[in-house]
Amino acid sequence: MVRATGRDFVPRYGPWALVAGASEGIGAAFAHAIASRGLPVALVSRRRQPLESLAASITRAHGVETLVISGDLATPGVVGEIADALGQREIGLLVANAAYSPIGRFVDSPLDEQERALAVNVIAPLALAHRFGAAMARRGRGGIVLMSSLTAFQGTAMIATYAATKAFNLVLAEGLWDELRDHGVDVLGCIAGATATPGYLTTTPLRPSRFSPPAMDPRAVAEEALVRLGTTPSMVMGRANRAVSLFMARLLSRKRAVTMIGRATRRLYEHPLVEKGR
Ligand SMILES: NC(=O)c1ccc[n+]([C@@H]2O[C@H](COP(=O)([O-])OP(=O)(O)OC[C@H]3O[C@@H](n4cnc5c(N)ncnc54)[C@H](OP(=O)(O)O)[C@@H]3O)[C@@H](O)[C@H]2O)c1
Repeated sequence: MVRATGRDFVPRYGPWALVAGASEGIGAAFAHAIASRGLPVALVSRRRQPLESLAASITRAHGVETLVISGDLATPGVVGEIADALGQREIGLLVANAAYSPIGRFVDSPLDEQERALAVNVIAPLALAHRFGAAMARRGRGGIVLMSSLTAFQGTAMIATYAATKAFNLVLAEGLWDELRDHGVDVLGCIAGATATPGYLTTTPLRPSRFSPPAMDPRAVAEEALVRLGTTPSMVMGRANRAVSLFMARLLSRKRAVTMIGRATRRLYEHPLVEKGR
């Protein structure tokens, strides 16, 4: 498998891309990075106004068509509604980016918050990949990016459910990479570390620990993911994050890794300025 160069990006991943969770942060960066390669983009998230502004800025900057679809990915049946809104437009590139992360001790936070995280982070990407992946496989080409996180590598106190959903995305992406490569469909589990998005900055007022690499620019994450799509089943974004995750996987026992990360998340999320979930 080889990466798509500028010239073959549109034939390989066209005619339309869909970014789920597009209105800000990494999703908005994906939408711009995809549009800059010449693909029209459908933009999905709950708030219409930021999507409309993003759509206008994409058309101004890259001259491609956009489609705004406002919808809540936690709602059952939402993927059917997205497909209806797309009409005849075929999706050749899917980025399943939206996530919800309830923050706090598992037993202290309501079950419906944990279930919402499963709906947005697990059921929605699963249903999107199933719906649009099937059409891509029939067409014999396409690309799917599922957003994961460094939290996928070990259980993580204070965001236990979120971390577990990110492990699901990573493992699903890798399985689909292997299943779909014979059908011409590239799949990538995009493993982001700390990234300076509005969501991250509201929930993370402090640097997680002195060993944490600095938060990445969302544009760097999106660019690296699109360059790596088609070359590997999954990839940690950013050299510093790759070094830290290699260190943790090779040198620490699971017990040590879990307790070390848990110390950092407790210090972080017990901070009075932290919003409990976004
Ligand atoms: N930022 C980080 O440090 C970091 C680190 C590792 C992994 N990641 C992963 O990267 C992805 C993006 O993270 P992020 O920090 O950019 O943003 P985020 O705050 O997790 O979500 C950003 C986007 O998702 C949309 N969204 C959230 N819930 C939705 C819902 N129920 N239905 C539809 N859209 C919804 C939001 O728009 P609306 O509010 O308008 O709906 C927004 O456009 C996530 O999958 C996250 O797990 C992020």
